[in-house]
Amino acid sequence: MDTIIRGGTVVTAGDRYVADIGIEDGVITQIGRDLLADAEPLGGGVTVERAGSRVTPAGDGAPQVIDASGCYVIPGAIDAHVHLDMPFGGTMTSDDYASGTVAAACGGVTTVVDYCLQSIGHPPTEAVEQWHRKAEGKAVIDYGFHLAITDLAADVLNELPQLVDHGLTSFKCFMAYKGVFQIDDATMFQLLEQARELGALVNVHAENGDVVDLLINRYVAQGMLTPWYHRASRTPEAEGEATARAIALAEMAHAPLNIVHMTCIESIRPLQAARERGLPVYGETCPQYLLLDETQYHETDWDGFGGAKYVMSPPLRDKRNHDVLWKALAQGDLQTLMTDHCSFRMSDQKTLGRDNFAKIPNGAPGIETRLALAYSEGVAKGRFSLERMVALLSTNAARMYGMYPRKGTLAVGSDADVVLLDPNKRVTLSAATLNQQTDYCPYEGMEVTGYPVLTLSRGDVIAVDGAFTGTAGRGKFLRRGAHMSV
Ligand code: URP
Ligand code: ZN
Ligand code: ZN
Repeated sequence: MDTIIRGGTVVTAGDRYVADIGIEDGVITQIGRDLLADAEPLGGGVTVERAGSRVTPAGDGAPQVIDASGCYVIPGAIDAHVHLDMPFGGTMTSDDYASGTVAAACGGVTTVVDYCLQSIGHPPTEAVEQWHRKAEGKAVIDYGFHLAITDLAADVLNELPQLVDHGLTSFKCFMAYKGVFQIDDATMFQLLEQARELGALVNVHAENGDVVDLLINRYVAQGMLTPWYHRASRTPEAEGEATARAIALAEMAHAPLNIVHMTCIESIRPLQAARERGLPVYGETCPQYLLLDETQYHETDWDGFGGAKYVMSPPLRDKRNHDVLWKALAQGDLQTLMTDHCSFRMSDQKTLGRDNFAKIPNGAPGIETRLALAYSEGVAKGRFSLERMVALLSTNAARMYGMYPRKGTLAVGSDADVVLLDPNKRVTLSAATLNQQTDYCPYEGMEVTGYPVLTLSRGDVIAVDGAFTGTAGRGKFLRRGAHMSV
């Protein structure tokens, strides 16, 4: 063993127990009591004199020892819904693979799966090559790509098996963003059929893009241009209708389906009904839909334009949906809590839509704050158990996206992607101290209780107390396997 994590409470999606974890060459090799007593020779180095440090470096053949006392030791979180270095809304996301994965590591995330976007009329392989160039030498944690299909011509269909072999075992389609990413039902149906054949999973952005587009144009024509009209043009009914349609298409294609960023009762109802019928349909939500609400579009900071901070799709909803979503996460209707991290600066990017909500780049930051929010607002407030949190943040995504058990759990043979969560650490969230490259935080000033204090990726300590301690570009591309049910 080269590293021992000592004296913490190990938590997985199914268990909680006090144990040490032994690591060798980036992989978990032992889980048991008093591993240090068995390590030869005994002893070790000197505790690093650094505020908050829990790391005793290796010395004289003794392993590095990480003191996990008072902490939960959990599998590194997986964020399977991020947008890094992505062109959108006339600009590029403010986080690229370097800054985005550093922020992720500091927030207890050890794997990201990003959306690689096919350009209309271009082969997907071109997009995949481009995405590799964005990530290589920059990512500090392991990463995979979902392939977002915008154009499914016959030759594109033929390319998909080779991309699945390359490890892109999940696709994405958009039922909204008309004229940009939106595909029609026949295209989605064919993609679902093909995914079923290949053991892949289709993710869908479910909003009725035709109606949304009509309402956007109507509000703009009427001179109703403030950020509120982003919310007004994207109704909960448009999300509910598209969700039900997506489920019907998946049922016709006999394919599994994952509905991303679900926000409201109108879409949760058809999801629940489909799952009660035993269909392999899954749902994801994000912290913003649990903690923020539509009144925020009226915020007047940033010179009256503060509502633009929350312009994302689907939009924030009436706060009565919060309870619906928390319960759906706890009871198993929703399987994952991801972020849809898609960051833009207020100062010079959101302002593209200063005079017209339709031109505000859609998206908000969140890659760094999810674990703390899920623990503080979810576990500490009794909304779901710690084990369920691990399932929602890590294990279920590992299974659904073909990474389990290498990722998503703490077991002998798994990658040593491990996070120490101090349940008593209080942190006030602020853009000024977070690592996400944005000039605002949607949760600015909110105090959380419970925070990731140390992150290991394949056995390397890459973040301590909110600061990155790893090396640039150390992340590796993950060639993912077949979809597994949850
Ligand atoms: O507003 C959002 N969600 N931006 C990212 C793209 C998407 O729809 O996931
Ligand atoms: Zn989306
Ligand atoms: Zn997204």
